[in-house]
Amino acid sequence: MQSLTTIKCIDEQSKPTNIVIFGAGGDLTKRKLIPALVKMLRCGLLHHESKIIGVLRGRDTESWMDSLLQGIHKYAPDIEMDDQQWQEFSAMFKLVNGDLQDDKTYEDLCKSLELLDGHIHAMFYCAVPPRWYTTVADGLHKFGLADETDGFRRIVIEKPFGMDLESARQLNCELQERLDESQIYRIDHYLGKESVQNLLVYRFTNSILEPLWNRNFIDHIQISAAESIGIEYRANYYEKSGALRDMIQSHLMQVMTLVAMEPPVEFTADAVRDEKIKVLRAVRPVEHEAIKQQTVAAQYGSCQADDEPIKAYVAEENVSPESVTETFAGVRFLIDNWRWQGVPFILWSGKRLPKRVSEIVIRFKKPPFNLFDKHATAPMENSLVFRVHPDEGIALRMNAKKPGLTTDTQRMVMRAPYSEDGEDVSDAYEVLLHDVLTGDATLFSRADEVEESWAIIEPILNAWKNRISIDRYRASTWDVPGMDALFEGCESGWHKPH
Ligand code: BG6
Repeated sequence: MQSLTTIKCIDEQSKPTNIVIFGAGGDLTKRKLIPALVKMLRCGLLHHESKIIGVLRGRDTESWMDSLLQGIHKYAPDIEMDDQQWQEFSAMFKLVNGDLQDDKTYEDLCKSLELLDGHIHAMFYCAVPPRWYTTVADGLHKFGLADETDGFRRIVIEKPFGMDLESARQLNCELQERLDESQIYRIDHYLGKESVQNLLVYRFTNSILEPLWNRNFIDHIQISAAESIGIEYRANYYEKSGALRDMIQSHLMQVMTLVAMEPPVEFTADAVRDEKIKVLRAVRPVEHEAIKQQTVAAQYGSCQADDEPIKAYVAEENVSPESVTETFAGVRFLIDNWRWQGVPFILWSGKRLPKRVSEIVIRFKKPPFNLFDKHATAPMENSLVFRVHPDEGIALRMNAKKPGLTTDTQRMVMRAPYSEDGEDVSDAYEVLLHDVLTGDATLFSRADEVEESWAIIEPILNAWKNRISIDRYRASTWDVPGMDALFEGCESGWHKPH
């Protein structure tokens, strides 16, 4: 399946661009950015005359390039890369060695940007920890690198965009003092995922859905991201973040806006984002007294499975043994507008759960009356499931008659996996990098969206701030305390992925 943005931009070839990566020796560069650039180049989404300029400290070009090649082998084994292909690809690379706080780094960067096809277009990717975003923006501004007279200049920043409302506002201000908002691309990789984009296509191209897409037919909506991995090597970040900031404030709330928004007047960045922000403004604040009923916070404990015992979160490297950071968070939101009044949107995400599954589950109301055999199984409610990963696709759960002489019903699932379309499902980074190159900000968060979502989360953060203990769940199980209560009154309760 071709991505939405690709469809939109297929005839709008990206221009030869200087792709500058700050933090070019880091994990994100190796795992995601370089593999995405290789794939984009191979399918014509990256202009072959583009340059990839890495900015890092204390490395020579050879060892940097070696580590990128190893990264491709390790993190993107589907990419075939023989010596000659690597020579060709690596001919695009340049290295600027220097410190982000040092003026000389930006002077060297100015010299290394190339005039390509009559322009000096540049994309600056901040693959560095968030504390460096303002430093980079400052360097770009001070040395005229953000000046668009010779070509476009765009900066890409990764989440977290702040750690709370105040820090997000401050970061937005600092960036906007140095760059125009139209030059800032706040990347949320969930919005680049096929299923998330397909949600928009399904909603706004299938006329059978729109009449059902409201409180008259929908009982509740679940948006989830379950992960089987723990926090890996990221304790320093995760201890301060927790699941609420890491997954809900960013990825899942962004997805919620796409599920709940009104049809935009046109498919342009601002028209879409104007509708998304209206959803966020309509989210009812979780009152202090309702925090206990409307939220769940829990942390994984150990699991003594024979084959592979799993450590508790508090036993992970660099985690305090007294830590009360949540590795699972769930929130029940209500959206106060005509379409969604009274329909719970339940967002949840956790680490060390039995499997890695991310889904959007639309649960419809039950049939109002059971016409058939009262002693047989009562018909269930319908659900429409958008599987974000793995096995990207859509499933519609319906009731059907069990074969035989009775009118007993059984669950029937109509599946539409993307993989059967015979085309590769693009990685989110390919989609989003291509969008930056073609100047399409539709799938990127605007400053006001980021601030609004922090404002929604803020009362929960404040209520959780001073907790002295936290509920535990056994790693690799769904035994998360409080989750059933979070679904009180919802048809069929918590949908645990299977
Ligand atoms: C990141 C979070 O933004 O998303 C990680 O910081 C999380 O903690 C990851 O593991 C999940 O992304 P995906 O695409 O694997 O669902």
